[in-house]
This record gives sequence, C-alpha cells and structure tokens, in this order.
Amino acid sequence: MAEMLRAPKGLDGVAVADTGIAKSDADGTLIYRGYTIRDLFEMSTFEESTYLILYGKLPSRGELEEFAAKLRRYSLVPHNVYELVRAIPHEAHQMDVLRTAVSGLGATEGGISSEEQKLSIIAQMPTLVANCYRLNRGMEIAEPDPSLSLSANYLYMLTGRRPDAFESWAFERMLILYLEHDLNASAFTVRVVASTLADVYSACTAGLAALKGPLHGGANEAAMQMLLAIGSADRARAYVQETLARREKIMGFGHRVYKTVDPRSQLAKRLLRELLEKEGKGLDTYRLCEAVENAVWEFKKLPSNVDFYAAPLFATLGIPIQTFTPIFASSRVVGWVAHYDEQLVDNRIYRPDAIYKGEKGLKYVPLDER
Ligand code: ACO
Repeated sequence: MAEMLRAPKGLDGVAVADTGIAKSDADGTLIYRGYTIRDLFEMSTFEESTYLILYGKLPSRGELEEFAAKLRRYSLVPHNVYELVRAIPHEAHQMDVLRTAVSGLGATEGGISSEEQKLSIIAQMPTLVANCYRLNRGMEIAEPDPSLSLSANYLYMLTGRRPDAFESWAFERMLILYLEHDLNASAFTVRVVASTLADVYSACTAGLAALKGPLHGGANEAAMQMLLAIGSADRARAYVQETLARREKIMGFGHRVYKTVDPRSQLAKRLLRELLEKEGKGLDTYRLCEAVENAVWEFKKLPSNVDFYAAPLFATLGIPIQTFTPIFASSRVVGWVAHYDEQLVDNRIYRPDAIYKGEKGLKYVPLDER
C-alpha cells in the first residue's frame, strides 16, 4: 500500500487547489483577481466587483450596464419558495431559514440553464435574505424596487426605510469586503460539492451550512452580541481579560491567514467612524470597539477580523442582528459561484483518506447473544 501523507489539523498550510480568484496573505493584504481590496473598496461598486470575480476582468461600461440589468431582472424570488419559508418555525435561526430557502430555489429553478442559475442565485440572495426575515416577523414580502441601486434596495428591504446616499454607499462597501476570500471553510465546502458534479444550488446550500458556524460567518452576529453585553469602552478590558481567562473565544478576532491585521477589518473600522460621524451618532460605539480591539491585542496578540467591525456597522445602519450572517452569505455567494466554476475547469472528485484508528477483526455476535 502506498505511503499516506498526513495533513495537519484543519489542513493548515496545505494547498488543495490552484486559484486565480482571490489571495489573502499573512502580511495583511487581500486581492480579488489581482486588484487590492483597498482599491475595490474605495472605487468599485458591488456589481462591478461581482463581475470581476465571476469573469476575471473589470467590465467595460456597456458590459457593466448589461450585467447590472441582468441582476435586476433575476432578483425576483419565486413565490413558492416563500411558502417554504412560511412553514419554518418563527424561532428558527435566519441562516437555517436562508439555507432552506436556497435549497428550495434549487428544487424550483431546475429548468433554467446553469449560467442563469448562477446569476439568479446571486441576484436573488438579497431579496431572499430580506424576505426570510420579514416573513419571520410577520411582515409583508418586499419586492425589489428597480429604480434603486442593488445596495440601496437591499438596505431598504432589510430596514423598511429608504437609505440616504452615504448609507447605501457604506453598506455596499461592506458587501464588497465580504465578496470573496480564497479557500476559507465555506469556499472549500462549495468546491468539494462541485467536485461531485452536483448543481450550483446544492454547492451553495452546503456553503451556507459551513458559513453559519460561529468560527466562520456566524462571528459577526456573535461579535454584536458581545459588544451589546460589554456595553461601554470602560468595561472592555476587564471583559476581554475575564473571557480569555475562561479560555473562551472573543468573536470577531483571530484568523488562519492574517496574524497582525485583516485589511477588511481596518477598512470597515474607518467606515464605521465615518458613518457614525455622518449620522451624528457620537463615537461611543467606535470607542467601545477600539477598546476591545486594544485589549485583545494586549492579552492575546490577535487582530480583529472583518466580522468584528461589520457588526456595529450593520447595527448603525439599522439592520437586524439576525440578518448579519445571511448578509455575509448574500455577498459571499459570488465567491462561491466563482469557486464552483473554477473547480470544474480541471476537476477531480475530492476524496481524501483517513487513518483508521478503530478496532479490527471483531467477531459478530448475534443480537440474542449480546
Ligand atoms: N479568541 C481567543 N483565542 C483565540 C481566538 C479568539 N478569537 N482565535 C484564536 N485564538 C487562539 C487559539 O485558541 C489558539 O490558542 P492556543 O495557541 O492557546 O491553542 C491561538 O489563538 C492561535 O489560533 P490560530 O491557530 O491562529 O486559529 P485557527 O486558525 O485555528 O482559527 C479562527 C481561526 C477560527 C478564525 C479563530 O481565530 C477563531 O475562532 N476566531 C473567533 C471566531 C471568528 O471571529 N471567526 C471569523 C473568522 S473570519 C471569517 O470567517 C470571515
């Protein structure tokens, strides 16, 4: 038998695929298709960065307009999916609702081409995230307003309030930060499912399942709960010290790749400050976050990750906490679709091995004799 290679726990440091989509580096850099996250954050739109991630190049004006129009056209969700959502108990976690709804979409949209499936799932996610929450709260379904930009519309459906230009710009920045992050747990999950030649809905349903966990996308919701529990900057240091002493995790901190800085977190931090100042809300929230950040660095030398500053930013925009992780998912689905396609270019089914540590050679004892 051939010698088996033992991969480290969590596949740390093991490359399992080639990718041209995105690259995060320990030095605190992130690129999407060669462009820095900072440039895309400052200058791009959600639709443009989505196009870049899917097709590997920045679109011309004509290509962008056509692409944005397509996303608008596909953004309506079939109403039988909402029937499925209505049947889910109201206490359910919004990621469970969304995962069920996306799986339901897969069962309904089978008749369209695989290319259309990929664009529809991206276009329908914001509508689904907002309406899963609205139905859960007994509110009417909100239909997308074609006169609004994707981010303004999304925010409007989430909060029931038409955002001003800065609010929708800020929200769109967060969607850009969340679009893609090379081979994280959910992207890897999507690639494993793609490698079996299952459809894109199945792969994204699995991606949603992986993203839900608090060690991955679920961290933004958990970080918000933590900030609410701490309450003010003067209590942050003691809270962090006590939590670490109990050997518990501080949500929104630490990263497999970034060891000193997550560039997305620092961009989100700057944005939070700008938003609070623009809205005249004072800087208490910002100071609280910074106090937590300083304390975690002091005691554990861990940097904040994107989820830490995303949480107060979403809260400042009036977005319900239950939708924080679904919003992350609605953006990350773009990266998942790109990974799905990339996996199929040179596919081989993922089938690792395991070192068997169980017993061998046991003699079967019939039920009556045990
Ligand atoms: N709070 C406290 N301790 C932590 C944290 C944290 N947030 N993160 C890592 N550590 C500890 C680990 O327990 C480990 O301690 P040890 O050496 O005493 O055993 C040490 O720091 C080093 O951990 P890593 O090997 O760097 O972490 P790993 O790669 O295994 O896990 C992860 C990365 C899951 C992100 C981890 O940092 C974590 O659980 N963070 C909190 C959850 C979170 O914010 N997730 C979002 C990640 S970003 C994203 O998905 C968008």
